[in-house]
Amino acid sequence: MTATAADVVRVCASDELAPGEMRVASWGRLPVLVVRLEDGSLHALVNRCLHQGAPLSAGQLGHGSTGAGGVGDYRPDESVAVLRCPWHGYEYDVRTGCTLFDPNRRLRTFTVIDRDGLILLMS
Ligand code: FES
Repeated sequence: MTATAADVVRVCASDELAPGEMRVASWGRLPVLVVRLEDGSLHALVNRCLHQGAPLSAGQLGHGSTGAGGVGDYRPDESVAVLRCPWHGYEYDVRTGCTLFDPNRRLRTFTVIDRDGLILLMS
């Protein structure tokens, strides 16, 4: 599961990634985390926290959004899928890669599709 930027990378068979599950892949030398949300949508993010590099694959999926109080003021919100870092709790919007506390701080995202029974990363 390695690639150069021009490649397509096979992550797994479609039925090997159920809603609510995550799977680690690679894009060249970059670790990538592929997530299938409960609504069936697929998302792919660098599997490395912006803070101190924790593997986000060891984190927890949930829901929430930032409240008016800013950093640390998180509110339940079923419309926002969140991945929480396992080390110090940075929270990322799975759909955008942005941290909840600052939308300008963002993980790299990748194109990921489900085609012919395979989940693929694409350039
Ligand atoms: S390494 Fe992720 S919050 Fe610190």
